[in-house]
Amino acid sequence: MVGMTTREAAQLPPASARAHSFNAAAAQYAANRPSYPPALLDALEELSGRPLAGARAVDVGAGTGIASRLLHERGARVLAVEPGAGMAAEFRRALPDVPLVRGDGNALPVADAHADLITYAQAWHWTDPARSVPEALRVLRPGGALALWWNVDAVDVDWISEAADRAGRFFGLAIPAEKRKAADRTELADPSGRLAFERRVVRWSRRVPLDVHLANIASHSAFLLTPQDDRTAFMAEERAHLLKVFPDGVVEETYDVQLLVAVTP
Ligand SMILES: C[S@@+](CC[C@H](N)C(=O)[O-])C[C@H]1O[C@@H](n2cnc3c(N)ncnc32)[C@H](O)[C@@H]1O
Repeated sequence: MVGMTTREAAQLPPASARAHSFNAAAAQYAANRPSYPPALLDALEELSGRPLAGARAVDVGAGTGIASRLLHERGARVLAVEPGAGMAAEFRRALPDVPLVRGDGNALPVADAHADLITYAQAWHWTDPARSVPEALRVLRPGGALALWWNVDAVDVDWISEAADRAGRFFGLAIPAEKRKAADRTELADPSGRLAFERRVVRWSRRVPLDVHLANIASHSAFLLTPQDDRTAFMAEERAHLLKVFPDGVVEETYDVQLLVAVTP
């Protein structure tokens, strides 16, 4: 077995490669990644100051459509933007009635002042804010809102903290739990400070079979680019660890969705 104690740490691949890594695993992504709770959409309506029903929403980095589906179900008129061919194909299978254009957040293929709302669910960090902030401001109508969110592992839950440590060691990263807990993405979201973000954290959880949990972890970009043998060995060790915590094979994943919303002048 390729144990983490007996081998070199895996290299974390460069961000440019990771940004495109999802396309080869789009079906796995769609089947296993967590969605977002209704309370997140409530908070989004509150912070953006308008109902989703009838809003023109541009969902960027739409992927397989997890967030687009929720916006659509709340009555938003969604236009999805996604750079990757594999993710776009999966999106079109899942949501044939929602329009999707290929493009990315650094150069949005959308007219000026088109949108009431621009959303990035787990996708803003793949953009260059020096370009994606001006693009969002161009595409939003006055008073429109830019909303960014991420499902972040709740590392104050013991087993999640331990699993995060194991993954960190696998990639040769030593991130202290305290630092992970405090991670506030507001400054990273717009280093220029042009946007005044309001922040909300929404905790939620889901119970899933262990296989779904492991496939969810494996669908993250760093693991997608890890050599197959190393990934398989890591997941086998994870399975053994987690069966001790969840002997019935049902894992309770807990997330803090971090939501940032900025309304334009
Ligand atoms: C983690 S997935 C999130 C997908 C979806 N929004 C969700 O909530 O499941 C990140 C997505 O961002 C896309 N992406 C990569 N680079 C991007 C960029 N520069 N602008 C917008 N999206 C990008 C990827 O192709 C991928 O579909």
